[in-house]
Amino acid sequence: MEEVVRFTLNGQPTSLTVESDRALLWVLRTDLGLTGTKYGCSEGHCGACTVLLDEAAVRSCLLPVKQVQGKAVVTIEGLVQDGQLHPLQKAFMEKDALQCGFCTPGMILAAHSLLRRNSRPSYGEILEGLEHNLCRCGAHKRIVDAVQAAAEEMAGGS
Ligand code: FES
Ligand code: FES
Repeated sequence: MEEVVRFTLNGQPTSLTVESDRALLWVLRTDLGLTGTKYGCSEGHCGACTVLLDEAAVRSCLLPVKQVQGKAVVTIEGLVQDGQLHPLQKAFMEKDALQCGFCTPGMILAAHSLLRRNSRPSYGEILEGLEHNLCRCGAHKRIVDAVQAAAEEMAGGS
């Protein structure tokens, strides 16, 4: 059934008339052209489609768009503020924490959610926090290093 869905997308009020059971992933990618959110498995297993919903990491492939009504959605495109990359985005570049980059948006948003809950996670806590986001290129060690570096920068360095 088509419905009007109103939500905030990357800080902008957004209103769409859509088939309300469609997955948010496809609304973002196909209707809105935000292709930073990746399509991996479409079954909730890989984390490539991770976005933030009211600051919590969620799988957009499993989320009917009607469930974002009245909420705030942030995609990887929304982390850039005033033309500046987020510390996590910078750290992933500086630590070379990617190969093909397919998992990267989901990893960064999952890490964003983790750092909101725990601003100085240990190595093990980062591993645990990202364990449901898969990297087929085997960049996990550099990904964890990047999240640790970003956490330090966000905490003011140490
Ligand atoms: S595409 Fe959503 S978890 Fe894999
Ligand atoms: S960098 Fe290729 S899937 Fe992670």
